[in-house]
Amino acid sequence: MEFVPFFFCFLALIILSFTLLHSLFSFLSSGNRKLPLPPGNMGWPYIGETFQLYSQNPNVFFASKVKKYGSIFKTHILGCPCVMISSAEAAKLVLVTKAHLFKPTFPASKERMLGKQAIFFHQGEYHTKLRKLVLRAFMPEAIKNMIPRIQSTALNSLQSWEGRLINTFQEMKTYTFNVALLSIFGEDEVLYREDLKRCYYILENGYNSMPINLPGTLFHKAMKARKELAQILAKILSIRRENKQDHNDLLGSFMGDKESLTDEQIADNIIGVIFAARDTTASVLTWVVKYLADNPSVLQAVTEEQEAIVSSEEESGAKKVLTWADTKKMQLTSRMIQETLRVASILSFTFREAVEDVDFEGYLIPKGWKVLPLFRNIHHSADNFPDPEKFEPSRFEVSPKPNTFMPFGNGTHACPGNELAKLEILVLVHHLTTKYRWSVVGPHNGIQYGPFVLPQNGLPIKLSLKS
Ligand code: HEM
Repeated sequence: MEFVPFFFCFLALIILSFTLLHSLFSFLSSGNRKLPLPPGNMGWPYIGETFQLYSQNPNVFFASKVKKYGSIFKTHILGCPCVMISSAEAAKLVLVTKAHLFKPTFPASKERMLGKQAIFFHQGEYHTKLRKLVLRAFMPEAIKNMIPRIQSTALNSLQSWEGRLINTFQEMKTYTFNVALLSIFGEDEVLYREDLKRCYYILENGYNSMPINLPGTLFHKAMKARKELAQILAKILSIRRENKQDHNDLLGSFMGDKESLTDEQIADNIIGVIFAARDTTASVLTWVVKYLADNPSVLQAVTEEQEAIVSSEEESGAKKVLTWADTKKMQLTSRMIQETLRVASILSFTFREAVEDVDFEGYLIPKGWKVLPLFRNIHHSADNFPDPEKFEPSRFEVSPKPNTFMPFGNGTHACPGNELAKLEILVLVHHLTTKYRWSVVGPHNGIQYGPFVLPQNGLPIKLSLKS
């Protein structure tokens, strides 16, 4: 009979010991646990504050949070606990100084569509190797040679818009798609353009669809188109291998002997680069067209700068093909593009995920939480850019404070295509302002959000030759 109380005492002792050991282990294995989480509201279970963020202009959501909680706050979006960061210093910590603690993160469906081996999804050695190959193809030395072909692509686009009512964003997407293909396949691009375009356009329709892989769904069609894209790329690779010629383009860089990527890695990264290059640059170009239309004095100044380049070519009797040196004379136009990148901030934020519990400026960011540096807030802070809502290209006559201007990101994953993006924008603006005038049709001030910030309805315009 005495055995029963003894058994319970023994059991209680074991449970107590386990509890103490577990507490001790947890304490030792996460020294940060005592830190508080950042301030903020996690909203409803599971849905969190998703509705509040996506049902309105996201600036209103961010601004009200920053006002209430300061520059680092927690929330819960799309099923994930998040920490949002709106100060330049803290964004630098996430993207640069402590980048090893924050890995890039994307929805699994996006990974399946772009391909798991694409540069965006990786850290470490494989990422470094890919970056070297991508940068080799997009550094100024490599893209200088592309100017004549970018120029004829720009001229063809502009000519096809003459006298028509066009959707600026849709047309810019065609231009930036063609330039992306040029940078990837060089002169071979024309041979494959139509097939690649047909498949890529089906793929893109599935990017934001529900990931249901059943016949008839957008996702299913997109996955089929992705397979076909990979087959076209395999064909191009085998033709290039047979011909054994060196190519000074992205595909040539990927096929470089020393680095030996697999065909699958090459395909994933080519589809990834088209994805990264096209809609981003097209959105910025759409805003350029809008801001120039809204600011006649800036349009006048840009036009004068571009006309001066045309006249110097005419005086020298040279053929009218822009050169790299010409683009370096486009100082005022470059400032207009910088200001467009700042005001439009087409990528309002990016995503990272904490790879372990992180002590972040006195707060705990738990492992697995998403971390979002808010580029738009940093670009629209009056501390960084006085009178931030005003479109004022001359503010870039003075360099912005360090880490306050990040249209192309910062740190290990910063945009390797930024020089090409700026070049193709400059070339198009040169021909647009020297030959054409345009007017916006329909509402002028509406904005669409997601995934990129865009003028309402893609900015319908009517374009005509200058009289
Ligand atoms: C104006 C147009 C563009 C903008 C605003 C832009 C912006 C960005 C930003 C902010 C990132 C970093 C994202 C992050 O840290 O999570 C990025 C990455 C990237 N961009 Fe761009 N981009 C543009 C054009 C291009 C072009 C033309 C190309 C290629 C030709 C390109 C290729 C890439 C690639 C491959 C990455 C991933 C880099 C990595 O993960 O290491 N982008 N871009």
